[in-house]
Amino acid sequence: NRVVLAYSGGLDTSVILKWLKETYNCEVVTFTADLGQGEELEPARAKALLMGVKPEHIFIDDLREEFVRDYVFPMMRANALYEGTYLLGTSIARPLIAKRQIEIAKMVGADAVSHGATGKGNDQVRFELGYYALQPDIKVIAPWREWDLTSRTKLIEYAEKHQIPVPKDKRGESPFSTDANMLHTSSEGKVLENPWDEVPDYVYSRTNNPEDAPDTPEYITIDFEKGDGVALNGEAMSPATLLEALNGLGKTHGIGRLDLVENRFVGMKSRGMYETPGGTIYHAAHRGIEQITLDRGAAHLKDELAVRYAELIYNGFWFSPEREMLQAAIDHSQARVNGTVRLKLYKGQASVVGRKSPDTLYSEKVVTFEEDAGAYDQRDAAGFIKLNALRLRLLGRRDGR
Ligand code: ARG
Ligand code: SIN
Repeated sequence: NRVVLAYSGGLDTSVILKWLKETYNCEVVTFTADLGQGEELEPARAKALLMGVKPEHIFIDDLREEFVRDYVFPMMRANALYEGTYLLGTSIARPLIAKRQIEIAKMVGADAVSHGATGKGNDQVRFELGYYALQPDIKVIAPWREWDLTSRTKLIEYAEKHQIPVPKDKRGESPFSTDANMLHTSSEGKVLENPWDEVPDYVYSRTNNPEDAPDTPEYITIDFEKGDGVALNGEAMSPATLLEALNGLGKTHGIGRLDLVENRFVGMKSRGMYETPGGTIYHAAHRGIEQITLDRGAAHLKDELAVRYAELIYNGFWFSPEREMLQAAIDHSQARVNGTVRLKLYKGQASVVGRKSPDTLYSEKVVTFEEDAGAYDQRDAAGFIKLNALRLRLLGRRDGR
């Protein structure tokens, strides 16, 4: 029997690798995804080899372009935000990891998959809903829910007993827990657990403090086609290249920091800090282009759907019929979401300052406060208001307000 492990190369998943072999007497296949977390991944290969994984059973895949094109951009078309603020950087990466893991399981003939998420969080749910959707009979091993390595000390003891190298900074308690990919870096736990205490400066890893950001604003443009970003400052870019470039700009100007107490799917509240530099700029830009290209009815319905959509992504239901239904509706709405948005980046803010589109619905001729040459007849508004007022007047008469 064989198991495919989502392997980062870090201490925790290395311990899991060993523990799987010992506990299940199985062959372990490792899968390490490059999602643009900005980490060297070859050391993960070396480490897996050292721990006895066969070279042909080590998978390290560059999924950056697929991640942005098929997961991040479709989600951004929805303007999805969980609980009004969280851009879902961890949530949206899990289905892709699960999908690739199942593909590898099929390739190598494995009957089980395993991951390093704890039994208290969202990630276990996201991984496993993905596995079961794509391979209904798969066996799932979640070591954190099974083993008795319940403290950091026990984990390190186990590592040392089995000659797993323990990096120096992991000997003590690491000060907080992180997850990173091209869209965001999240930090949770430890020093962040008291929601009254401000996040210390050293927790931020990929944005400048807005207070130290440049004193001069920077202006950029993003071009959209059918609701997806296609160019930065007029230069055509692939989805991942565009997001990477926006990450650089967001970092400089301190954009996309978020300190949030959120509701986990399993029921508890947790406090996290997120840095989503490029995603925050992109989200603002996408809303900017929709302002002039979407009809009010479509836009408002989209806003309602976005709440549901975000909850589905957060709770791990990417591979569900209801997510696909919403996606179809959202994608349909984007057919004419074309044009250019101009943004001003300045000390933590990405502000839309200009938009234009060949498909604009905005009419200066109609909206102008000046003479409008017959585009709109103000006298029509009197009847419009009177009919809307009818039921309010009937109520007013009856209730004598
Ligand atoms: N709370 C965030 C979410 O549920 C981030 C989770 C971070 N995951 C991690 N393994 N550190 O999407
Ligand atoms: C974990 O529990 O492994 C990380 C946090 C989460 O999944 O919500």
